[in-house]
Amino acid sequence: MAYETLIVEAHDAVALIRLNRPEALNALNSRLLEELGQALDAAEADPGVRCLVLTGSERAFAAGADIKEMSDKSYAEMFSADFFGPAARRIEACRKPIIAAVSGYALGGGCELAMLCDFIIASETARFGQPEINLGVMPGIGGTQRLTRLVGKSKAMDMILTGRMMDAAEAERAGLVSRIVPADRLVAEALEAAAKIAGQSPLAVMMNIELVDAAYETTLSAGVAMERRLFHSLFAFEDQKEGMAAFIEKRKPDFRGR
Ligand code: HXC
Repeated sequence: MAYETLIVEAHDAVALIRLNRPEALNALNSRLLEELGQALDAAEADPGVRCLVLTGSERAFAAGADIKEMSDKSYAEMFSADFFGPAARRIEACRKPIIAAVSGYALGGGCELAMLCDFIIASETARFGQPEINLGVMPGIGGTQRLTRLVGKSKAMDMILTGRMMDAAEAERAGLVSRIVPADRLVAEALEAAAKIAGQSPLAVMMNIELVDAAYETTLSAGVAMERRLFHSLFAFEDQKEGMAAFIEKRKPDFRGR
């Protein structure tokens, strides 16, 4: 499928989605978010896709929601469209793993989009920020909640109230990103990580994602109980038998997702 604001490439079992509005540093407009939803629908419907990588350009992952599209909107328009709520929920609801590969600016809605993914790999040039305060507004796609959970209250307040940017090293120290790679290796390293995930049991991958996400929503004892039950349930799948047999037989497992 051809998109106006995205480039989608298949890399074996990995779908690489590139945000592609270079004239606006990949600012998120309605069209881009609608197309991103369509690309996620297509990837989820394709049994050949087992992992996704979401990236931007070297200069910008995304410089935020499109300020030019937003600036004249009324409260009634924002409220009745539930501005970017449906798009955020669509990304959050994706059951296949999504890695954000971030180079350059990930600001405002761009930072929030990266945080909606399962984890973030950053290039040395990545700059993260929630600069909405400079526009007289606030993060609106989960930034006040997700950034606070990821980096803690003090740093989240600092970022959100001053609007300053974090470089990649600070983002890694703070726990926002999982690792930093050289800029010219970003997509290759993200694709390598995605290929590794794509080679695992897709059932076990989905359950692991559900559990890590549950850590943000539930108590420790309820989360640990849920983990134990889902761990037990994995023994109903052929993939568990295959994974353990492959270890014992000293061969590579062939996970079929059943
Ligand atoms: C629309 C944007 C944009 C944005 C950049 N552009 N960011 N257009 N919305 N968020 C456009 C510029 O207008 C310009 O187009 C072109 O991209 C290049 O940007 P420059 O500013 O010329 O580049 P540079 O000087 O290198 O500065 C880069 C930058 C700056 C620091 C990233 O562009 C910037 O501060 N952008 C805004 C960042 C921001 O405030 N993000 C939060 C948005 S609010 P023209 O045609 O003029 O040359 C948000 C709310 C989320 O995200 C919640 C929604 C529900």
